[in-house]
Amino acid sequence: MSWSHKHILRLKDLDKDSIYTILEKGREFMEGLDRRPARSYEYLKGYTAANLFFEPSTRTRMSFELAQKRLGMEVLNFHATTSSLAKGETFVDTVQTIDAMNVDCIVIRHMKPGTPATAAEYSRASIINAGEGSHEHPTQALLDLMTLWLSGREISNLKVAIVGDILHSRVARSEIYGLQTLGAQVILVGPPPLLPVDLMQAGISHTDNLEDVLPEVDVLYLLRIQKERMAEAFIPDEEEYFKTYGLSLERLEATKDSCVVMHPGPVNRGVEVSHEVVSHSKSLILEQVRAGVALRMALLYLVLKG
Ligand code: CP
Repeated sequence: MSWSHKHILRLKDLDKDSIYTILEKGREFMEGLDRRPARSYEYLKGYTAANLFFEPSTRTRMSFELAQKRLGMEVLNFHATTSSLAKGETFVDTVQTIDAMNVDCIVIRHMKPGTPATAAEYSRASIINAGEGSHEHPTQALLDLMTLWLSGREISNLKVAIVGDILHSRVARSEIYGLQTLGAQVILVGPPPLLPVDLMQAGISHTDNLEDVLPEVDVLYLLRIQKERMAEAFIPDEEEYFKTYGLSLERLEATKDSCVVMHPGPVNRGVEVSHEVVSHSKSLILEQVRAGVALRMALLYLVLKG
């Protein structure tokens, strides 16, 4: 195994070997997590992590904290609303303050793109990007790749449709880099105002017709409609969106038997996907969450000990 990354800032920085090193380490931890009680380790005993979440999160924040505890780390949780940000402290001052406490790893979610990279400039700690604005969410894409890989699928043989609000999605950008690096075909599907011009100009296949791709794809990766990032109305209304781009049971029946459904969560039921599809046997949505803890254990282990 060769590993040379101190930080995880962007999926774009990781080559195929690095991604498979992460997935293999994640698979090792996955086996221990399936026990009850789950297996804990002391690999990172004595190391400290600080989790800085400036935006809401359930999956990413909780799975990082669980991953840190399962590896024996000390964990500090920063809550933006009750921190000195309320007194005007800047992001850089916050990072330098936490760095002065001698932490080993800082996990950051922030609404502004570029903040994890800024933190890497102002801190000695390893920085892990837990989602930045509409730019990247590398740990989500890695756990999605791990979910597909652990299901026995050969990623280089897959055709993956990424469906919905691609324009505002940090998950989509990381997902595209990761899938393409491992050799998968990607097709973007959504209403034209939600398909980013730069990705279309980069030559990525795209269509505004979901029906056309249903019979030919191996993975339907549905994205959340991100109302919090839409400065103007990009879709007529949610009911209309579901009629055109939502994954109903009827649409799911038009897919191959082997096709699977993924979504990073949180799901807007009845908007991107119907209630029935969320819990359908083709849905990997909870498998993605399950993989998230092991994948984040792998990343913490590799950036601190790899
Ligand atoms: N997928 C994802 O990032 O979910 P959370 O916002 O709940 O962390």
